[in-house]
Amino acid sequence: MDRFRIEGGRRLEGTVRISGAKNAALPAMAAALLTAEPVHLTNIPRVRDIITMGKLLAHMNARVSTPDVPPIDLTIEAPAICEAEAPYELVRTMRASILTLGPVLSRLGRARVSLPGGCAIGARPVDLHIKALAQMGAEITTEHGYVNARAPGGRLRGAHIVFEKITVTGTENLLMAAALAEGETRLDNAAREPEVADLVGLLRKMGAQIEGDGTATLRVRGVERLHGATHTIIPDRIETGTFVVAGAITGGDIEITGCAPEHLAAILAKLRETNVVVLEEAPGRLRVRGAKKLLAADVTTEEYPGFATDMQAQFMALMTQARGTSVITETIFENRFLHASEMLRMGADITVEGRRAVVRGPTPLQGTGVIASDLRASASLVLAGLVASGETIVDRVYHIDRGYERIEEKLNALGARVERVR
Ligand code: EPZ
Repeated sequence: MDRFRIEGGRRLEGTVRISGAKNAALPAMAAALLTAEPVHLTNIPRVRDIITMGKLLAHMNARVSTPDVPPIDLTIEAPAICEAEAPYELVRTMRASILTLGPVLSRLGRARVSLPGGCAIGARPVDLHIKALAQMGAEITTEHGYVNARAPGGRLRGAHIVFEKITVTGTENLLMAAALAEGETRLDNAAREPEVADLVGLLRKMGAQIEGDGTATLRVRGVERLHGATHTIIPDRIETGTFVVAGAITGGDIEITGCAPEHLAAILAKLRETNVVVLEEAPGRLRVRGAKKLLAADVTTEEYPGFATDMQAQFMALMTQARGTSVITETIFENRFLHASEMLRMGADITVEGRRAVVRGPTPLQGTGVIASDLRASASLVLAGLVASGETIVDRVYHIDRGYERIEEKLNALGARVERVR
């Protein structure tokens, strides 16, 4: 198992380029199952979850090309998908495998996907995906850890679905299911994340009829067949936010290119509130300068366009260095503070009570051995390590490899010292 050895205390300077968004690339890959024609995707990030999704699609008989040079251009061709089973061995390493349920069911009229199970940050059920597909006429049973779904007559029917709770992959699954269904589907209380809008963009290029992207109501008029398309994945807004914090926490001065600042308005507004200087120098380009006096700010995670839960851990790392008390409230996942106890071991002053963490700062952090529990928690521990005195060892960096492309190389190019120890 790889680990990172980080020598802290170095100010970051220079330019970093952002990769494509993992959470937009995964549904785009699943969408390729909807057509027999090739789907070309560009700006795919070279991260572990993409490899896992590629394996899953190949298991379903799709042809997946992966040329080596980043940014990856990926072509997926699924002339005939077979057996339609997403096995547990693949699903357990990546919950986004559930994204194959909607497209396979609507293309084949049946699907079998292993239930993802819980993960470190919460129980993460998929009941809302299942309920909504049932409303479209699917007969669904869950047994022996698998979701078995069948569309009577081979085709799903349009329906009016009101999500009880906003769900990102749930919205994406239903969009894909509805694209080939008979009649019109209306999705209310749909997720408005940029990754959902990116999927709508791709589906539309494939011939889908969808209205309302970027709003909480999506209308899909089902078509008989979809065709191939070429699509460029949007930049990763969470990778962007993570590098903004890296620049800020080290008191550095960095430029971030290839990003979409409009997708992280709430995150940038919050960072500006703490006195971090973030300038939009040109379209797709941010300049970040550390604050002269970093101030504490409270934050509550929310669905888009609110402050993303996927940036909560990184913001907590920053708040350990800010003057004052910061109250961080996590509303999306029930157990997403596992990084706090690791930061405590580094010398942070954090109290967690239920869904609220109180961070008192600034506290000098000291390097030590810490364990990464999930993707964004790992990123936050790397950020803490950048500012800690001495050496920080971050264990289980396979979590970070799931969603950040060559993070150590990108940080080192900015002057950090992060070594991957195998
Ligand atoms: C997506 O997960 C992202 N993953 C997550 O990114 C992100 O944290 C999350 O959205 C929230 O923004 C991908 O896009 C692949 P949800 P998703 O369904 O879709 C509850 C990262 O680090 N819920 O929007 O699985 C759920 O438990 C990750 O890149 C149900 O109760 O999240 C949670 O409390 C981690 N029943 C809330 O809704 C359901 O059927 C929102 O989850 C579905 C969800």
